[in-house]
Parts: sequence; structure tokens; C-alpha cells
Amino acid sequence: MAIDAPATRPANPRFSSGPCAKPPVFSLDQLQDAALGRSHRAAVGKDKLKAAIEKTREILGVPEEYRIGIVPASDTGAVEMAMWSLLGARKATMVAWESFGAGWVTDVVKQLKIEADIREAEYGEIVDMSTIDYDTDVVFTWNGTTSGVRMPNGDAIPADRAGLTICDATSAAFAMELPWDKLDVTTFSWQKVLGGEAAHGMLILSPRAVERLESYTPAWPLPKIFRLTKGGKLIEGIFRGETINTPSMLAVEDYLLALDWAESVGGLKGLIARADANTKAIADFVKAHDWIDFLASDPATRSNTSVCLKFTDARIADGAAFAKAVAKRLEAEGVALDIGAYRDAPAGLRIWCGGTVETSDIEAMLPWLDWAFESEIAAQKPAA
Ligand SMILES: Cc1ncc(COP(=O)(O)O)c(C=O)c1O
Repeated sequence: MAIDAPATRPANPRFSSGPCAKPPVFSLDQLQDAALGRSHRAAVGKDKLKAAIEKTREILGVPEEYRIGIVPASDTGAVEMAMWSLLGARKATMVAWESFGAGWVTDVVKQLKIEADIREAEYGEIVDMSTIDYDTDVVFTWNGTTSGVRMPNGDAIPADRAGLTICDATSAAFAMELPWDKLDVTTFSWQKVLGGEAAHGMLILSPRAVERLESYTPAWPLPKIFRLTKGGKLIEGIFRGETINTPSMLAVEDYLLALDWAESVGGLKGLIARADANTKAIADFVKAHDWIDFLASDPATRSNTSVCLKFTDARIADGAAFAKAVAKRLEAEGVALDIGAYRDAPAGLRIWCGGTVETSDIEAMLPWLDWAFESEIAAQKPAA
């Protein structure tokens, strides 16, 4: 039975998993102070780049002895740079439980041709991180953006490991606690949890990662935008805001605005609370409706940013077509944009719940999901 359309709509229907919703306070005129048309190496630009690094450290609680750099090519650039610069010194373990992790596996095995133990889990599941040999270099994704599955914590990673841990935390940073003592390389992009712009990646290195960079030279050539050392020494300037090549000062200004907003909502704890509240609103909805469920099988590994859902109703004839049609209805009504599951993921929906999303918008959108589901069930052609 089709139901009436709800009376209210979300104020902001942007629930995309990247680029994600801008902070609620965002407006373009707040970027007026951007150092546009100036050299990024002039004092004004350098100060802004340095502030971006320092504020990132402050909000994420990154230890003083860890380096934080702004690098080219968004999160992908940061991950690739780390893998090409650090891997090959010892055996690698490549861990993947969704599309992006699987992409890193392909690069290491097919491009770098490094001997690797490959550990994969199906969408919705996670690899048992306690069964991994941490004397190898381990590459993994903290939060699987396309499966809605995250690491519950870093307890499985030993403090006295001989290998390095390289963690793609792009949909985790600013929404989850990251155990810095367990992470040697951490990467993320501005376009995710803080709703910043794409283009630049963040690369966070532990002292052990720096030690590897200064004592190991990969067998393959490295392009200029991957090079972190010169003459066997870390290029320290990168970690003070002297970027390898020209950054977008507009994107930098936008990131600074997002960091200020993050501070205003209580920093990391405030951001986590906002993401948790958004996810809880969805969890309550899932509990109240027997036709929808989380893709993540274990609540302990359920993401609080990229929340992935599947339809479980036996009346659905074609799962992929049904999920697409529901997402299309919601988009056409202007109540939820870009919430179809990722192209490589199982059919369903993916609703971004990071801190820039208002809980009131999630709550206003969910009755529409109910409406779209019932409308689509009613519209299905009866089985021949
Ligand atoms: C887990 C993960 N890794 C990497 C990426 C790629 O990020 P970017 O496009 O910012 O390089 C994404 C983007 O969605 C992601 O979710």
C-alpha cells in the first residue's frame, strides 16, 4: 500500500559519501580571506598552510612527534605516496573489506609487484585483524566507505610491531578515535568528514615511518609528487606547509573554515557525538522497519559515517533495480541526494552520517525513505 508523502523535508538533503555535506555554517562569502592570487610561499599563504596542519593536529590529537603533511591528489595521492615510498622493505599484508581497500591491493600486487599476503572479507564483514603478522607492513582502510564497515578499535595491532601500519582513514578521521600509537601512516582527504574540498590529501607519519623513509630506498623510480626525502633525509618543509607543488589556497581557506567549525562543536568528541547521533537515528529506523537492515553484519563494526543499508523484503523482485528506484525517487523529491550504494557494492543505500550532517535532516529524511519504499513496492510489476 502506497503511503502519503511526508509533510516536512530535510533543510539540507546532501547525504553524499564524498564530497560530503559542507559544515552547516558554510557559505562562499566566508572564504573572503583566502590568499588568492598570492604565492603559497609568501608569508600569508605559508601561515595558512601551517595553521591547517596545526589545527589538524590539535583536533585529531596527533602526537607532537608525528609529522603531518599536505600532499597532492587527495586521499588517493596520500595513500599511493605512502605505499610507493615505504613498501618493499619487507613483506606486505594487504587487507581489504570493500572497494577502496581492494584498489590498494591491486596497486601493490599488480603495479609494485610486492610479495603480499592478501586478506579480504566480503562486503558487510571485516578481516580478523588479530590473525595478521605485524612483522609485515600492513595496509588497510579504517572505515570501508563502500561497505559501511569499520575497525572497532586498534587493539589487535601490537605496539611492538616490526612492520609499519599504513591506514587509509579518509572516512574515519574526524568521526572516530584513531589510536595513533598503532598507526605509522594515516591518510585522509578534506572532502570527507569535514566537508572540505577535494584536491589535497593529508599524510600523517609516525617516527617509525620517518625512520623507514630515511633508511630505505625503493627499487622503483618515484615521481616528484611522491618524493618525501632528499639525499636520504626527510624533506621537513613538507610537514611545515611547504607543499611539494602548488596547492589551492581556496581549498585551504575552506579547510580552515571547516576546522574552526569542528572546534566550535567540541572538536573530535563533538564530531563523534554528531556522527553517532546521526547513525542512531538510522539504527532506530532500521529497528522499527523489517524491510531494511545494515550491510555491516556486526554492530561493533558498523560505521558511523558511511552507513550502508540493504533491503530485505521478500517482495522485492530485482534488488539492484529496486534500490536504484528508491534512491531516484528520493533524489527527484529533493529530500536525499546521492544515496545509492557505491557502484561496486551490493545493492542498497549509503547515507552519510558524518558530523557535518545535521541529525534533524536525517530525521526529516527517514519518513521519506519509508514513503519511497512503499511507493516502489506498490509500483513493482506483479510477478508474471
Ligand atoms: C576509503 C577510501 N579511500 C580512498 C578514497 C579516495 O579518496 P579521494 O577521491 O579523496 O582520493 C575514498 C573516497 O571515497 C575512500 O572512501
